[in-house]
Amino acid sequence: MNFQSEVVHAGDRKRETGQVTPSTTPISLGTTYFYESAAKLDRVLGNEEHGFSYARYANPTNEALEDLVTKLENGSGSLATSSGMSAIQIALQAALLDRSHSIVASDAIYGASVELLDKLFASFNVRVKYVDICDLQAVGKAVADLQPGCIFMESISNPLLRVGDVRELARIAHTAGGALVVDNTFATPMLMRPLDLGADIVVHSATKYLAGHGDVLGGIVTSNANHYEQVRALARIAGPLLGPFESYLTMRGIKTLALRFERQCENATLLADWLAEHSGVERVYYCGSTAHPDAAVIRHTFAPELYGGILSFEIRDADKDAVLGFMDRLRMVVPGTSLGDVHTLLLYPQIASHRNLSPKMRARLGIRENLVRVAAGIEHIDDIKADLDQALRADRSLH
Ligand SMILES: Cc1ncc(COP(=O)(O)O)c(C=O)c1O
Repeated sequence: MNFQSEVVHAGDRKRETGQVTPSTTPISLGTTYFYESAAKLDRVLGNEEHGFSYARYANPTNEALEDLVTKLENGSGSLATSSGMSAIQIALQAALLDRSHSIVASDAIYGASVELLDKLFASFNVRVKYVDICDLQAVGKAVADLQPGCIFMESISNPLLRVGDVRELARIAHTAGGALVVDNTFATPMLMRPLDLGADIVVHSATKYLAGHGDVLGGIVTSNANHYEQVRALARIAGPLLGPFESYLTMRGIKTLALRFERQCENATLLADWLAEHSGVERVYYCGSTAHPDAAVIRHTFAPELYGGILSFEIRDADKDAVLGFMDRLRMVVPGTSLGDVHTLLLYPQIASHRNLSPKMRARLGIRENLVRVAAGIEHIDDIKADLDQALRADRSLH
């Protein structure tokens, strides 16, 4: 099936003997399960037979969502987790099991992921080295020095939207015996399927594009055959599972992922072109720009004609107060901290995703004080442009 059909059908209508089969997966709330035969319960508890025994191990609604995302990411199995961050934690722990306790990480990952590595993993003696993931020589050197258990990166970096070469990075990780873990939240499996390019584990903040409507906190880990058992085993012990209601909402959201994402990409492309010509804008960052530094990688790793729904831009001559004023003037675009929703969201990295970085570190990463990030929604493009325009124009009159 094509992606547009898979999002609608995969995971649903698993037949269970003696039960009616609803066309879409219902919410299953039970925490423990009854079997007519204790021998069967024994086999299910012992993992010798498929079935459900206890909610921390597996749940029918979660399983339907997991099957759906496994199909979309072309993996061997998935785990639905309580948040994107718990997905990253489980994925990295699974990747480091039986491997060197060290990680080479992209220096352009989500702020909380940096904190997860620096505060949690480091306190368990995991060594972490940050590199520019688009500089393959630097990655090669870091991997040769550290011999890491894994490389961790985002398929599209935040907020400057750089794209590392997953194929090459998987090769480099594997030469050192390590795994490649990719946070695919920004790209979605519609734009990129990291496992097809050689990655070992993919994670999502399902809070974003997958659920898509700003009403679910959730995560997904999808892995290849080599790591799925570890992911599942860790989850059985630690129990960071998504609740069945959130699983249902996420699955319901994914049914329209293809429709939403196509429109979000189209809106982002139109916005990037328009903002590049706007007198109030200094510079635009977008994966679809012809001058994008990773254009060649984008060409051979992204789906054709799609460049993602996120762009960033620098407001001309704006300091922090001017950016905050611009945000206050927005009438439809929502100033907030997330992305991937049906409504257009605007984030100011300096006060949100990159708040905890020092000004020096932000400057080193190229994140200027006048940079904002837009996650295009599905509204009419003219309304998004009109809102940004009036907020930018009022800003112009200040200078
Ligand atoms: C790229 C990326 N990964 C992971 C996360 C964490 O996801 P969650 O907030 O669902 O825990 C975020 C949150 O913004 C994100 O942007």
